[in-house]
Amino acid sequence: MEEKIRPVALVTGASSGIGEAYAVCLAQKGYDLWLVARRGDRLEALGQKLAEAYGIAAKFTVCDLSNRPQVGDLCAQIASQPQLEVLVHNAGFGVNGEIGLAEVTKLQSMIDVHVSSTMALCSAAAPGLRKRGKGAVVVVSSIAGWLTGSGSACYCATKAFELSFAQSLAKELKPFGVAVQALCPGYTKTEFHDTYEYEHWNRNSVPKFLWSTPEEVVRQSWQQLGKKPVCVPGWLNRLVIAVGRNALVSRLREWIRSARKR
Ligand SMILES: NC(=O)c1ccc[n+]([C@@H]2O[C@H](COP(=O)([O-])OP(=O)(O)OC[C@H]3O[C@@H](n4cnc5c(N)ncnc54)[C@H](OP(=O)(O)O)[C@@H]3O)[C@@H](O)[C@H]2O)c1
Repeated sequence: MEEKIRPVALVTGASSGIGEAYAVCLAQKGYDLWLVARRGDRLEALGQKLAEAYGIAAKFTVCDLSNRPQVGDLCAQIASQPQLEVLVHNAGFGVNGEIGLAEVTKLQSMIDVHVSSTMALCSAAAPGLRKRGKGAVVVVSSIAGWLTGSGSACYCATKAFELSFAQSLAKELKPFGVAVQALCPGYTKTEFHDTYEYEHWNRNSVPKFLWSTPEEVVRQSWQQLGKKPVCVPGWLNRLVIAVGRNALVSRLREWIRSARKR
């Protein structure tokens, strides 16, 4: 009997958080998985677990998405994968620090991961998706992509790039039957805030009701995919964007921030 050829879904940043939750969701939907991140041991373990649980195939590629030659190799593999039907570009990280104080090399890496690799991976995947005439691209941005704030100039700017890029890409690929979504989560319980950049940041400074789980973020993203080009999971996050974009509120926030520092 001929083995069924399943469509492939590639998830970057699948070694934890939202990317891991997306990998679980896609395995449940019957996609073969292609998991990408730097921590290969985690990708391997996740792939094996999901392959056993859902009868799919899973492979992984260790890639530092801030490293151009590595991204180039990954893009070449993407371009020659005819079964690729879903690309979830989720990998990312935050740097908490003002310009001139935050490490420039870290900020450059952030631009490489959030901006350059978004462009490169989507460019590699688009021709195949157009040819297939179906499929989806999810670019994980943030509510920060709608906002600005001291201490996160580069994060907000790179997330704004992802938001804008995905919205334009949605227009380009819609005529070919390919759905594109900019996913803009708010505070989500993942490893995002566990890095040393956030060691002086207190999770409890954000009210409990503003935190989502990665599973809930992914559930809403998948449900809205193909319906609208932007998904902001949860009405509270939509409210945060609306209020945060208000000039008066933004000034008040900055005043509180500088008063805390004094
Ligand atoms: N958590 C939040 O509150 C929140 C809110 C809004 C938006 N987001 C966005 O959600 C996305 C996922 O973050 P998360 O919350 O799930 O955080 P997370 O648990 O820390 O996961 C981040 C993922 O990105 C990968 N990654 C980071 N740098 C990488 C690099 N240079 N090359 C390859 N992979 C890299 C990490 O894998 P390795 O370390 O194994 O490489 C990890 O799998 C990010 O784009 C983030 O900006 C998060």
